[in-house]
Amino acid sequence: MAAAASPDAVRSDHQRPQGDARANAVVADAVPHVRLAGVGKSWQRKLDTFVALDNIDLCIGRSEFVSIVGPSGCGKSTLLMVIAGLIASTHGSVYVDGAPVERPLTDIGIVFQRDLLFEWRTVLDNVLLQAEVRGLDKAASRTKACDLLAKAGLAGFESRYPHELSGGMRQRVAICRALLHECRLLLLDEPFGALDALTRDQMNLDLQRIWSEERQTAILVTHSIEEAVLLSDRVVVMGARPGRIVHSVAIDLPRPRTVQVREGAAFGHYYAEIRGAIEHA
Ligand SMILES: Nc1ncnc2c1ncn2[C@@H]1O[C@H](COP(=O)(O)OP(=O)(O)OP(=O)(O)O)[C@@H](O)[C@H]1O
Ligand SMILES: [Mg+2]
Repeated sequence: MAAAASPDAVRSDHQRPQGDARANAVVADAVPHVRLAGVGKSWQRKLDTFVALDNIDLCIGRSEFVSIVGPSGCGKSTLLMVIAGLIASTHGSVYVDGAPVERPLTDIGIVFQRDLLFEWRTVLDNVLLQAEVRGLDKAASRTKACDLLAKAGLAGFESRYPHELSGGMRQRVAICRALLHECRLLLLDEPFGALDALTRDQMNLDLQRIWSEERQTAILVTHSIEEAVLLSDRVVVMGARPGRIVHSVAIDLPRPRTVQVREGAAFGHYYAEIRGAIEHA
């Protein structure tokens, strides 16, 4: 566990790999990329106050890949939206690069469960929408978009329309759009939830490749423990009522990871630990 930089509510220090270079790099970062300090979020429901998030402390290092898992309704999406500045917390603070988040962040990439592609725009034009909205250089953005699409296995599909693509291909286009503007922070809310198992495997590998080349800080919300372990440097487990962090596990598996890593004993131990934490949350 990155003790100096990660005062998570609950830790799994015995899981921290001694020789994990990435983990040590996180410790070395003086200012964590993302820091949540005592974050709480309550919703007012008629006469009741519903506590969606309670006293969340979490530090995420630059270029770290962190997954958040937990039962439905425990506040995962709310947490992501609070980090993005799209929902204001009622307690505590979120810091990105040491600065408090007080309004929606513009220099991040977000991918939602639904791909939100525009059906009347081609694949390339859907990705380039990001550049249009931000007023980025057209030629450079076009080059970058084609490069991202190629990395995502979509070379040759630039002129297709969304209805000509599979669900997995559509999600890859959405991810490329989120990455077009060189964001250093990527927030992913169950982006692959609707996909079949084989497509999801492929998407996981595609995301791993893109992330390892671009090295954004990534926060992935997922219901899949396997997906979380496969992709992450660290898996954070949340419990419900109130939504809180109950466990955190550093994943010390060599990269790049293939889907076969799931057959190994280490993977099985991580899976069992996370599953147990969810069940006892
Ligand atoms: N705008 C809102 N008003 C009132 N309550 C809300 C609002 N948004 C979310 N909630 C409540 O906050 C809790 C957490 O919701 P959230 O969507 O963050 O859960 P989640 O962990 O993402 O669930 P899932 O895994 O099903 O997507 C839920 O009980 C939900 O009903
Ligand atoms: Mg959600």
